[in-house]
Amino acid sequence: MVDTKLQYLKIKAEVDAAIHEVLDNAAYINGKPVQDFADQLSAYLDVKNTIPCANGTDALQIAMMGLGLEPGDEVITPSFTYIATTEVVALLKLNPVFVEVDPRTFCMDPVSLRKAITPKTKAIVPVHLYGHAAPMEEIMKIAAEFDLHVIEDNAQAIGCDYIFSDGTKKKTGTIGKIGATSFYPSKNLGAYGDGGAIFTNDDELARKLKMIANHGQQKRYYHEMVGCNSRLDSIQAAVLNIKLRKLDNYNASRKKVADAYNKAFAGTENILTPFVAPYSGHVYHQYTLVLQDVDRDALHKHLTENKVPSMIYYPVPGHHQEMFASFGLPAYNLAVTDWLTEKVISLPVHTEMDEEQLTYITTHVLNFINK
Ligand SMILES: Cc1ncc(COP(=O)(O)O)c(C=O)c1O
Repeated sequence: MVDTKLQYLKIKAEVDAAIHEVLDNAAYINGKPVQDFADQLSAYLDVKNTIPCANGTDALQIAMMGLGLEPGDEVITPSFTYIATTEVVALLKLNPVFVEVDPRTFCMDPVSLRKAITPKTKAIVPVHLYGHAAPMEEIMKIAAEFDLHVIEDNAQAIGCDYIFSDGTKKKTGTIGKIGATSFYPSKNLGAYGDGGAIFTNDDELARKLKMIANHGQQKRYYHEMVGCNSRLDSIQAAVLNIKLRKLDNYNASRKKVADAYNKAFAGTENILTPFVAPYSGHVYHQYTLVLQDVDRDALHKHLTENKVPSMIYYPVPGHHQEMFASFGLPAYNLAVTDWLTEKVISLPVHTEMDEEQLTYITTHVLNFINK
């Protein structure tokens, strides 16, 4: 689905030099590249505080710990997302409440969100799925009305613009109280190992989040609160520093791929290509089609047989996951989510795709659909 090797080869000299510098300085943990990266990312996103951590799942967990949520508090998330979003809710003994997504954007549906709010609701976690922004303006309005925290899961959308109705723009991940992201290697800003970060404009909260990520301490060996050990290492930060400077170009390359796919599939009625809402940019972490009157699983098999990678993100939504069986979940009726899990298929999208690959992929998709 991605070609991280070819991308690396194009920046090899720069990356190798930066990694060797870390090795020469032997500051593997909390070295200068980590603070440099946090500063550069804050500047790029135009956010006051960036707290690097070990991965995107930790970023979400630390965010929820920082907001002082109590066991039994309800946290609303879309069911149609990667498991990390909801797993951390359960891990912290909070109650996950699943809501519906918009069938066109795949992101949280504000109508479903509003209906799910109860006196126990404390936080909302919108996910900017596949690289498209959730409708943050409406979500923030609802959050303000009910005095709820908003944690944006920005693991799939780093660099995406949100466009407010007055025309102003902000990067996704910087609109809610906290944003969380992942630097997993295949992400738009991917490290060569695990990594993650948390963003906030609230300085006091940032201080707390930083402490939580570091065993609840500010001063060494004086632990003010229960925390965890979640660090971005210096080698990953050195790599990310280089790749951050290229992020806009990388996202532009992904968009070019998406445009080429859109062109190839235009006019094929059974294929719905990704919709882009007027309030959102799109950084195409995934290029995901919705298929109508097509045997999706047979297409998936056909592509695999022809050596075309494709993926189903996600075959089982949160409200059907076995891990939540003991949570006494209500009988959810999330028809759009259930429908999407049967209709979506994601095609390869990355920074190194060439025309030959694109033609090969689209030909195999269209041959199957038009047969
Ligand atoms: C939407 C979403 N949230 C959270 C995560 C978790 O990130 P990580 O794998 O770095 O823990 C991911 C990564 O796969 C993701 O796609």
